Amino acid sequence: MKKILITGGAGFIGSHVVRRFVNNYPNYQIINLDKLTYAGNLLNLKDIEQNSNYKFIKGDIVDAVFIDNLFSEEQIDSVIHLAAESHVDRSISNPLEFVMTNVLGTVNLLNAARHQWKHAYNNHRFYHVSTDEVYGSLGETGLFTEETAYDPHSPYSASKASSDHFVRSYHDTYGIDAVISNCSNNYGSFHFPEKLIPLSINNIKNNLPIPVYGKGENIRDWLWVEDHARAIDLIFHQAPAGSTYNIGGNNEWTNIDLIRLLCKIMDQKLGREPGSSAKLITYVTDRAGHDLRYAIDSSKLQSDLGWKPSLKFEEGLEKTVEWFLNNEEWLQSVTSGNYQSYYNDQYGKS
Ligand code: NAD
Ligand code: TYD
Repeated sequence: MKKILITGGAGFIGSHVVRRFVNNYPNYQIINLDKLTYAGNLLNLKDIEQNSNYKFIKGDIVDAVFIDNLFSEEQIDSVIHLAAESHVDRSISNPLEFVMTNVLGTVNLLNAARHQWKHAYNNHRFYHVSTDEVYGSLGETGLFTEETAYDPHSPYSASKASSDHFVRSYHDTYGIDAVISNCSNNYGSFHFPEKLIPLSINNIKNNLPIPVYGKGENIRDWLWVEDHARAIDLIFHQAPAGSTYNIGGNNEWTNIDLIRLLCKIMDQKLGREPGSSAKLITYVTDRAGHDLRYAIDSSKLQSDLGWKPSLKFEEGLEKTVEWFLNNEEWLQSVTSGNYQSYYNDQYGKS
């Protein structure tokens, strides 16, 4: 039985990856390692937690001794590494946390893999899940390709860029079978409501201001999270060792157009007067160092592995809104406690 360690499996994207692997590969043993920070929630995996090929372990990737022991005790065959501090705004307030988890945590995992797998690197795979933000910011034209030079601007993207370099260096230096993917912004179910889309859904529902940074003209390329999980599955199983793939939705939206579409969908779903949610749009101070535009060229993934996004954005956004409205208990549980103190620090008391 192949044992796969998925780190950060209790987070937004990680929970979709864990669910997919547990359900689709009954002959794999899936170990979900997660520290359960503010962003990690075992409620995200309630539907599969009893499966016999699934096991959860609470732990911190920053603890090198713990990680080394885990690799030898569990005889880990492969890693899909998603654990990270992932929120740009938090990285601006507390960069060191991002260095610890995203850089040191990744190097700890690489070291454990290096020691545990040294007799046969080719039977094992280290898959590092990364972001398009490592490439920096685009102007009005052009797309990020796998050849675009790294140019990170936020402490978050700098820490992810650093971790990508370490992963490549362990492939080049020690021969570890490593692959990396760099994906654009994800959206969908279980998305933590500090990020733009779930935060806005939650605020519209509660008739609170929708905070739009600057003029709302920044552009992101949005991808449905289950399409990302499907790409990870393909890359894990089929990509050549040492390769990199960009993953994106081919779906660029300015923040303000996205919010207007969301307001329209919310008005319909909540039976509100058309135009009433849009009245909540509130322009607030811009994010420091705010990247203007991200957009991905995913043609390599499409031609090599036959992947393409499955959902149109309008359809995916509507499904996402429905999920949030139907999962009141989940939203309540993740917006209590620490969430409220973060929200007050970031946006002031509402
Ligand atoms: P998330 O913040 O929702 O989840 C991160 C998970 O990692 C949480 O469950 C958290 O508890 C866990 N974690 C954090 N620090 C840890 C530590 N020290 N030890 C063990 N576990 C720890 O993040 P996400 O949005 O699901 O992103 C997952 C990965 O995908 C990240 O590596 C991120 O950089 C990358 N990514 C995210 C996006 C996006 O749009 N969200 C896009 C591209 C790439
Ligand atoms: P976010 O969801 O934090 O993802 P990222 O910064 O990783 O792209 O933000 C998406 C975009 O939305 C980004 O341009 C910042 C903007 N934004 C707002 O305008 N208001 C908000 O309250 C948040 C959280 C983000």
